[in-house]
Amino acid sequence: MLYAIKTLASADGFRWRGVNILNVGQGNLNLCHRVLWQMVRVMNVQLGAPGQGAVGQPSFKITPIKEHIGAEITGVDLTLPVDAATRRALYDAVVDHVAVVIRDQVFEPQTFAAAAELFGTLMADQIKTNLVDGLPMVSILDNFHKDSKGAQAIVHKNGTWHTDHTNKEIPPCFTFLHAVEIPEQGGGTSAVNMNAAYEALPRETRAKLDKMKTANVRVSSARLAIANPDSVAEQDQLGEPPMIHPLVRTHPERGTKAIWFHKGKTETIDDMDPHETQEFLAELLEDIIKPEFTYTHNWRRGDLLIIDNRSALHKAGSDYDPSQQRKLYRTMTLGERPY
Ligand SMILES: [Fe+2]
Repeated sequence: MLYAIKTLASADGFRWRGVNILNVGQGNLNLCHRVLWQMVRVMNVQLGAPGQGAVGQPSFKITPIKEHIGAEITGVDLTLPVDAATRRALYDAVVDHVAVVIRDQVFEPQTFAAAAELFGTLMADQIKTNLVDGLPMVSILDNFHKDSKGAQAIVHKNGTWHTDHTNKEIPPCFTFLHAVEIPEQGGGTSAVNMNAAYEALPRETRAKLDKMKTANVRVSSARLAIANPDSVAEQDQLGEPPMIHPLVRTHPERGTKAIWFHKGKTETIDDMDPHETQEFLAELLEDIIKPEFTYTHNWRRGDLLIIDNRSALHKAGSDYDPSQQRKLYRTMTLGERPY
């Protein structure tokens, strides 16, 4: 059987991404089922099964979820070849809808990374302790992780609205999440359209925010007591100067403006001290995050959630039983310097 799978895969020129077929012979039934299921799906496409094209997968469907944010995409399999037009349509859907969920994906870490690569160049996570073995571009977000002192990761305390890696000169364009283990209830991922939040503000407030600059570090000095000690130690060791970014950034492809920050990484804003900065951002969030601009994604198996960081903040839900595991793969694509 293994020989047949190998032969079929190579004879049909299918790129066998991420599936370690050598393990099939080692009694790994779960993996064996996955391999066979993938083969059936590949053969269905090649034989012209209804609803899918051999290359373009043109029958995929994009269904908006809310007026300001969210879309569901069905009928596409990102482990199969995706042509340029489909790729473009998927990319545009993320930008247009700010956060999209692509249903029914079957990923190993390698195929997850390859799917994200359809949208851009992968970007390394600055936290090196939670990477998938051998895959430096894929990290694991897991409430069961322990820090170097053996304490469970402080996931809940970090569950605030933020965008990723604001302390970097070039932060990520998109963030990709794929749930591997999900709690029975809760633990969703929320995203908010910060362009809509910005536009809803009075003109004078927008003008004031437009002028503000954030100084971004790995961990704000106002939050050292509740931060991951490994991140704090690394920050001390690296000694990187704060990265200055605008509080309101312009979307490089749409020209729209969005309020953009990671509260936990914002050391100061203009002449505010770190504690004033935290208070200012907490009040700002309180004022501007509205349910109509927000989408909370309740995970189903097979979901790939993609967020356009240039116009969104996001947060992990902490409304679940922490004795249950919440484990996601995460990767990011490289963006542009905010302006
Ligand atoms: Fe994040």
